[in-house]
Amino acid sequence: MSTFKQNVCEAIGNTPIVKLNRVTAGIESEIYVKLDYMNPGGSVKDRIGKYIVEKAIERGDLKPGGTIIEGTSGNTGVGLAMYAAIYGYKTIFVLPDKQSIEKINNLRAFGAKVIVTPTNVEPDDPRSYYSVSRRLAETTPNSFYANQYYNLDNQDAHFHSTGPEIFEQTEGNFDVFLCGVGTGGTISGTGKYLKSVMPNVKIVGVDPVGSILEPFFRTKKIVEAHSYVIEGIGEDIFPGNLDFSIIDDMVVVEDKESFLMTRALLTKEGLYAGGSSGSAVVGAIKYAQKLKEPKRILVLLPDSGNRYTGKIYNDDWMRDNGYWDNSFNATIREVLSALDKGSLPAVKLMKEYNVSQIPVYRGSKLIGMVSESKLLRPLFESQISLNDNITIGLENNFILVDSNDLLEKVANALLNKTTVLVTTGEDVTAILTDIDILNYMATHRPF
Ligand SMILES: Cc1ncc(COP(=O)(O)O)c(C=O)c1O
Repeated sequence: MSTFKQNVCEAIGNTPIVKLNRVTAGIESEIYVKLDYMNPGGSVKDRIGKYIVEKAIERGDLKPGGTIIEGTSGNTGVGLAMYAAIYGYKTIFVLPDKQSIEKINNLRAFGAKVIVTPTNVEPDDPRSYYSVSRRLAETTPNSFYANQYYNLDNQDAHFHSTGPEIFEQTEGNFDVFLCGVGTGGTISGTGKYLKSVMPNVKIVGVDPVGSILEPFFRTKKIVEAHSYVIEGIGEDIFPGNLDFSIIDDMVVVEDKESFLMTRALLTKEGLYAGGSSGSAVVGAIKYAQKLKEPKRILVLLPDSGNRYTGKIYNDDWMRDNGYWDNSFNATIREVLSALDKGSLPAVKLMKEYNVSQIPVYRGSKLIGMVSESKLLRPLFESQISLNDNITIGLENNFILVDSNDLLEKVANALLNKTTVLVTTGEDVTAILTDIDILNYMATHRPF
């Protein structure tokens, strides 16, 4: 065992860089993603958790047995909690109530004390998560306030780890570094390092609609903040760790496109990342679309998808909040008036023959059935699309019987909701349904 780590904190960093292939179809620029969700605590924030605490210990700000306090959207908490678990510190975390329950449970599982504060209050409100964490730090004996918004060790962590790591992995062979902006630590620290070794690199930030950061970058005016759902990026304050002078451009993204891209990263690229990763990739594509010539863009994906199983990766939550991009955003009137218009070939056939299921052939070979009821749910949940080949919606739950067979042969099949296809010679000539049997029984009563 020559390659083991002394403890899990030594496993932070050296995250892989992967090229995107399918979600970038039609984009001339190449987009690469750095999977910082593969850090042991599941996010980029492991890097700052470790660095901030080590610096605090070095300066004597955190003493043995002390308590680490932080206002965190969850990920920094995990980074700090991991360090605290190894070295025996206590932790108290303050989270705004829009954060996912997975993040809150995760921190509690580390043994941390978690205090949840309201999201929709002004930053200087005594209930805000900035105010509560500051107050706790002032009143808890032997405590250290990590303060990722204003403690410059946050951006220094990225200057000393993320930046050099990216340069080493790529040998500087890219044109643009792009990431979401929350505290600003990632973009400022990584950006500062990259600019020191690659003078021509462009540093691009991604900000959600509703945040005050991009409007300020663009117009130098402070706008009113509005709420948005995406977690971890965008601000209603100007964090001390955000150095606008490092940033060359900023792109804005919406909740919906971020969440849809997060899901597409999983279904099209196999990348199980969090919502702000979807934002970052949407931002990279928007940026790429503005470019006059193709570039190589490196995007940092901050956290893992397993923190969002109750939200972005929950179909009901996506649907209930109007994030699924499908044709079900129509009114009932629109649905009814579409009845006479063009339709899918399979649906057209069902309508024409007034049946709810039809057999599907490849050449002369019967390969399955499609039915109204089984097509609806996957279409509704966007698991299949209207342009997919019909074979995707095939069911194999059917039996073939000859028209001369006895009815009792199909009784079990019908009771088990298996479709009964009636053949005459080689051809399927009918589908026998429950209603056919009921009709027969009603008209052939033995009295
Ligand atoms: C999920 C997620 N994405 C992105 C960021 C933004 O990183 P930074 O705070 O370094 O700007 C954060 C920060 O909290 C985050 O939690």
